[in-house]
Parts: sequence; structure tokens; C-alpha cells
Amino acid sequence: PRHLLDFQDWTPERLSALLNGADTMTQVLDRPVKKVPALQGVTVCTAFFENSTRTRTSFELAARRMSADVLGFAAGASSLSKGESLRDTVETLTAYKVDAYIVRHHAAGAAHLVARYSGKPVINAGDGRRAHPTQALLDAYTIRQEYGTLEGKKVAIIGDIRHSRVARSNAELLPKLGAQVVLCGPATLLPPGLAALPGVTLTTDAREAVRGAHAVMALRLQQERMNAGYLASLPEYAGAYQVNEALMQEAEEGAIVLHPGPINRDLELSGDVADGPRSRILKQVENGQAVRMSVLYHLLVGREQA
Ligand code: CP
Repeated sequence: PRHLLDFQDWTPERLSALLNGADTMTQVLDRPVKKVPALQGVTVCTAFFENSTRTRTSFELAARRMSADVLGFAAGASSLSKGESLRDTVETLTAYKVDAYIVRHHAAGAAHLVARYSGKPVINAGDGRRAHPTQALLDAYTIRQEYGTLEGKKVAIIGDIRHSRVARSNAELLPKLGAQVVLCGPATLLPPGLAALPGVTLTTDAREAVRGAHAVMALRLQQERMNAGYLASLPEYAGAYQVNEALMQEAEEGAIVLHPGPINRDLELSGDVADGPRSRILKQVENGQAVRMSVLYHLLVGREQA
């Protein structure tokens, strides 16, 4: 595929190739000089219309470590506030001979629009509640690093599924790689339609979700996207759905804990588990760089071999 907007056009073989590529990039990042010339002469624009800490910084580093030039576009400091359209903004940036875009936007489908307006390869860095494919890839990579394979692994994803592009992308990706996904949260935050995805089941019972799981992912309550009425109260939510050591006792021995960040500590995830031996949260962050280097390589260099 020319873009990474979601996983619709991505076969398991191509997805595995991305993860294998991340192994190679991890070796690059372990060297004293963490740089390769693969993207010399290429200009990548990080177009962020919504806030980010991890995704923006890791894409920027990933591109620089592959010797690309990076044009950072931050919507908050731009002329969008003067009424300029997305199309005029993208056409303006493309006039600088940008070769590829990395796009985060609060609206689902915005990355598709940037692909249409620019005619360049686009990587979706999170569009509304729809998709966040590189997050799911780094989650898959982190689980694969732990167990050697995704095949036959059970992954429980607990929290605000309704508003989560991370949950949707993982529900699309992990079964393609052989894992079984259980999505869990209060009924108001658990859209029943997601049960139609192959390899995905839903439950409102956190203990049932975690039982026998190899990896448990806690998700942030996205209160900025919520209407009143989704939750009775935050303490009641934490009482039923917080990922803590008591809940983790239901999981497979040695099960790992993931969180895409940012964390609301002691709400969806207890601080002791976040900082404890099960946690792979900072490993996810570290892996994000290698996975994004691999995605950039496959879309911008390795396309001819696809
Ligand atoms: N996981 C994630 O997308 O984090 P940021 O919003 O900080 O990029």
C-alpha cells in the first residue's frame, strides 16, 4: 500500500514485514551512532492538528534518524485560526516539495483528505476515534518481543473503548497476526458493533476479560470526547475497571501490562502496576521509534519491492 491510514489494505505478510523491519531498526538504535542514510533528500512533514507527546516526537526522531528533513507543522500556531482550510494548508505545505505526511487530526478521515489534497504518501498518526495504526503496530511489536509471536495470544483491552482509535486499530491488527482480542469497559463505552470484527469479543466484566490474558492494555478515559452520562462516577469506574495487581491475578502468569499513554494514574491504571515489573509502557515508547522508522522505510524506500 502507498499509505498507512488503517489496516484495511494490509495483508498479514506485509504487517509482519513491518514488524521484522522494526527489528532491524532496533539494532540501528542500539548502535552508538543511531543514524542511517535511507531517507537522505526526503522531506517529511509532521502535520499535527491535535496535541501529542509520544507520536509527534517519535515520528520526528524516526525520520531524523533515517536522515530525512522534517518540517514540523503545529496547527495551534498556524493560520488555520484565521479561517484557512485544511486543503489550502496542505497545498501550501506541498508547494515546499514535501514527500510524505504524518497526520494527526481530531476528525475521522482527515488523513484520507490530506492524501487526496497532497497526492503524497500519508501515515495516519491518529484521526478522531477512528484509527491510530502506528500505535497498534508498536503494541503488537511489544507483545511479539515478549512472547516471540502473536499467534494464540490473548490481549485484553480495558477502558474507554468507544472513544479509542487505539482500541479500534488494535482490534483490526492483532487478529490479523493471530491474536485474540477482548475489548472491555462499561456498556456505555463499549460499542457492540466492534464484536463483528474477526477475532474480537466484547465483555463488560473486567475479570472475564483478563482471565488467561497474556497482555492487558489499559486505556485512558477520554473525558474531552465524552458527553455527560457515559459514566456514573470516576471512583465507580476505577472500582470496576482499573487495571491493578488484584485484577492482574486473573491473567496468565507473567502477563504484561500496556498503556498507549497519556495515563491518568490511579484511574484506569494503578500507579504501582504502571511502575512495576509487568509494565512495558516505556518499552512501548522505545519501540515506537523503531516501528515508525520501519513504516517510513516501507512506504518511502521499500515500495518497489512490495
Ligand atoms: N499514544 C499516543 O498517541 O500518545 P500521544 O497522544 O502523546 O501521541
